[in-house]
Amino acid sequence: MSAYTVVSLPGDGIGPEITEVAVAALDRAASVVGGLTVNVDAHDASATRWQRTGAAMSEETFEACWDADAILMGAIGLPEARHPDGREVNGDVIFRLRFALDLYAGIRPVRSLPGVRPTLAASDPIDYIVVRENVEGLYASRTGGTNVRNEVATDTIVITDTGTRKVSQVAFKLAEGRRGRPLDGRRMVTCVDKANVLSSYAFFRSVFDDVAKEHGEIGTDHVYVDAMTAFQVQRPSHFDVVVAENMFGDIISDLAAATVGGLGLAASGDVGDEHGMFQPAHGSAPDIAGRDRANPTAMVLSAAMMLDWLGRRHGDDRALRAAELIDGAVLSVLADGGTVTADLGGTASCSAMGEAIVGAIGA
Ligand SMILES: NC(=O)c1ccc[n+]([C@@H]2O[C@H](COP(=O)([O-])OP(=O)(O)OC[C@H]3O[C@@H](n4cnc5c(N)ncnc54)[C@H](O)[C@@H]3O)[C@@H](O)[C@H]2O)c1
Repeated sequence: MSAYTVVSLPGDGIGPEITEVAVAALDRAASVVGGLTVNVDAHDASATRWQRTGAAMSEETFEACWDADAILMGAIGLPEARHPDGREVNGDVIFRLRFALDLYAGIRPVRSLPGVRPTLAASDPIDYIVVRENVEGLYASRTGGTNVRNEVATDTIVITDTGTRKVSQVAFKLAEGRRGRPLDGRRMVTCVDKANVLSSYAFFRSVFDDVAKEHGEIGTDHVYVDAMTAFQVQRPSHFDVVVAENMFGDIISDLAAATVGGLGLAASGDVGDEHGMFQPAHGSAPDIAGRDRANPTAMVLSAAMMLDWLGRRHGDDRALRAAELIDGAVLSVLADGGTVTADLGGTASCSAMGEAIVGAIGA
């Protein structure tokens, strides 16, 4: 018997709609597997809470996240909810949790999915993982930049040996457990940087190269981030695992999601040595919020990633099996294509697609 406590933070916009589907999928997978309990403890941490109370997240919620086995986040943020310096308030939750819980690796799988019309004209198969350094880089300055007389604003990039080493290790470990890049099955880790211009990125690359020496069986290469955006479109089958500094990882992972059908499909996990937080890569989509139109896939796949992470961390086959069941159910609903949301060319509502996914778990 295994039991986990998961704090859910449904958040803003479409967050609550898609979180409801993910929680139903977790319940269903746990009951199909048997001997597995996932207790979901929902908390309000959101831009809406900030508008109501002045704080996006209570200390009680922060402590519950700290104590939980994992965190499942919907989407947090509203474009109009901003601090006086212009930053959105969702950073008070997302960045605070990433930094305080040292969730240093943002893991963002990107793969061609059955039944989903390819975005790219080239039919290169796509199956790679973007590993985004999550707590350093340019975003480490998120509250520490300067603004002098509203005339000059600066932010400073932070690259450390420890942080780069840790995130590079995660990338190589992931590559060890994969089948290699679609092009030729070669296991590869690609370092994406701008080492030709900034010494900070040259340092990132040198630490990456040092870590690579411990993993001689895995191939490596280096790509400048500007070229990377072109390669992601023109020859994505060349990538297996990709590691990048925080801001570059943020940008190339959204591009990656677009190449396989859009943000509604992009799952992610923010993980460290002690904690894990799982959330779709997309935001709160205010343009479709409250209309039951959101694609729940990214959220449900993030919940599957959470179970997979819990299973590996605790040596728990039940959690691993539940993760596989959810993943398989999503793939079968996408492949069938009859009950998919508008972003995938269908007419189904979020709740109808959610019901189809939950119904396919263990079917
Ligand atoms: N981790 C997070 O919680 C997170 C991430 C990114 C943005 N945000 C916040 O979300 C808010 C909106 O940001 P944005 O508009 O730039 O990005 P967004 O990801 O919310 O939306 C971009 C576009 O993608 C569509 N989209 C996103 N998710 C979808 C889904 N599941 N199904 C169908 N369509 C989907 C939206 O309708 C929109 O047209 C902002 O406040 C932003 O700060 C939060």
